[in-house]
Amino acid sequence: MKVQTISAIDALRQTLDQHRAAGRSIGFVPTMGFLHAGHGSLMDAAAASNDITVASIFVNPLQFGANEDLSSYPRDLENDTALAEACDVDLLFVPTVEEMYPFGPVLTSVSVDALAHRWEGSTRPTHFAGMATVVTKLLSIIGPCAAYFGEKDYQQLAIIRRFVADLSLPVDVVGCPIIRADDGLALSSRNTYLEPDQRVAAAVVNRSLRSAASLIEGGETDPEVVMAHIATIIDEEPLAELDYAAAVDPDTLEVPEQIGDHCRLLIAAKVGKPRLIDNLGVTRV
Ligand code: PAJ
Repeated sequence: MKVQTISAIDALRQTLDQHRAAGRSIGFVPTMGFLHAGHGSLMDAAAASNDITVASIFVNPLQFGANEDLSSYPRDLENDTALAEACDVDLLFVPTVEEMYPFGPVLTSVSVDALAHRWEGSTRPTHFAGMATVVTKLLSIIGPCAAYFGEKDYQQLAIIRRFVADLSLPVDVVGCPIIRADDGLALSSRNTYLEPDQRVAAAVVNRSLRSAASLIEGGETDPEVVMAHIATIIDEEPLAELDYAAAVDPDTLEVPEQIGDHCRLLIAAKVGKPRLIDNLGVTRV
């Protein structure tokens, strides 16, 4: 069926209220567009488990820092619409900035203290409050639903789970696995910034995590050793520059004294201009 594009909040609410009144379940996939197979996997998951699938495309100014890529963030609504349609999305919500923030700068913000300050939050101090604010607003517009997010943005997912629980939002948060290219690079809209040589070099990001996972599976329990191991592998790639790497508790995102049976490896590295993030779950059996 053809996807219906809606840009007004009121019209979307009315449409979704009608579906809910008819007993239909809603699956929601928030995105910033320039869609790829990673987004597609969330839409497929939503469409498989719900009667109506809604995806949003909104490049949210609140979550970009002053020196970040808001004005150059890639956009392609025609292609996005075709991908959404191929993934059985029923409604595409594409609001303007004025529709979302009609009073200009917001006075209300959602921030998730401890979880948001480390890792991505230390390099991008306003990012997570901007993200949490727009996701709260989108979830408020959509209403009761199952909302699908990628593990690609692992810290984002942890923060969303937390504020949805803290604020008792009527939303079932569903985390979905990372979709990767053949060489392991996690798909990302920002990969489009990579020059050809940087694109080849970028495979080191995931390679370093897989190597660290083997180390842990082989018995290493010291998070510092694991972190140094990742740093050495990234150092060997001249085009890559490590921002952070860590072996963390999968829920609190804190570095444990000793790595237990479950941990999450997190990494951020610059490869040329783009800053790439990735993560990997490790379970020791
Ligand atoms: P965006 O980067 O467009 O990502 C939208 C959703 O797609 C997020 O849940 C993200 O984790 C997921 N995603 C991206 N790449 C993926 C991949 N390779 N595999 C699986 N899932 C992937 O994340 C955002 O937008 C924004 O912060 C948003 C939540 C929409 C709020 O503005």
